[in-house]
Amino acid sequence: MGRLEGKVVFLTGAGAGIAKATAQSCVREGARVALFELNEEAGASAEKQIRDAGGDALFVHTDVTNDNSVREAVAKTVKHFGRLDVIFNCAGGSSEDDHPVHEMDLEVWHKTVALNLLHPFLTCRHGIPHLMKAGGGSIINVTSHLGLIGSAKPAYAATKGGIISFTKTLAAQYVSYNIRANAIAPGSIRTERTLGRYDNPNAVLSERAKLDLRRRAKMKKLYPFASGDPKDIAEIAVFLASDESRMLTGTTIAADGGRSSYLNVYSED
Ligand SMILES: NC(=O)c1ccc[n+]([C@@H]2O[C@H](COP(=O)([O-])OP(=O)(O)OC[C@H]3O[C@@H](n4cnc5c(N)ncnc54)[C@H](O)[C@@H]3O)[C@@H](O)[C@H]2O)c1
Repeated sequence: MGRLEGKVVFLTGAGAGIAKATAQSCVREGARVALFELNEEAGASAEKQIRDAGGDALFVHTDVTNDNSVREAVAKTVKHFGRLDVIFNCAGGSSEDDHPVHEMDLEVWHKTVALNLLHPFLTCRHGIPHLMKAGGGSIINVTSHLGLIGSAKPAYAATKGGIISFTKTLAAQYVSYNIRANAIAPGSIRTERTLGRYDNPNAVLSERAKLDLRRRAKMKKLYPFASGDPKDIAEIAVFLASDESRMLTGTTIAADGGRSSYLNVYSED
């Protein structure tokens, strides 16, 4: 029997990267999944891949920054599958224009806040009543190691840091409903998007992107366990979604090879 047998999970941003891999892992463990995705082609293709492999998936075209869109997506999920047990908030990202505070365009700040922070608020606002009806559930928010330590991108770091305290608050507020809330803080994950940005020899890079690339190479040397594949995060998500993690709530699992845990002063060079 799968570790998520009988559970219904919705995942945001499930047309690509970490959420897509997590949807596939959840299905492998017996869950039925709703894929909330803005990009229609990516969402439909992710749904097809799961169905072709014999799983049960529903693509729901959703803009996670829009309250009505999220409300409708949650309603469609519950109508289709009859229940909801797990919320996986993963859509998110940073902008190349996430400049130092005194230089940042206000629009960049608002867009980043909407995608990274308003989004989990909206999915919880509409999803939690269904977890309550199901007698409990698990909320999993995807943050970043940069939410734990800060970064050169202020909007990204602030929103990812916000997710961590939001998760703790959810844990406290819904404990009496048998609902747990945890976060995962990935290091560098080799998704189609990051491979396109950092591992593409033909890419035309801005000065900022080049600097980013040099920093990443240095980090790779200092923290060799800090990069992984989407399925590495998917496995942690399955654990947090399952009853195996029943002692965990309010916590953030730093899947970042120690980058947020220790300063590497031990390397030889
Ligand atoms: N990839 C990494 O190295 C890394 C590292 C740390 C944290 N993270 C975090 O993990 C999460 C997933 O990252 P990823 O690299 O897998 O992402 P990705 O860019 O590969 O996929 C994100 C998906 O979200 C969708 N999306 C974007 N805006 C949306 C919206 N408004 N509504 C619905 N869907 C929307 C996109 O179309 C895309 O399919 C993000 O929150 C990111 O900040 C990623």
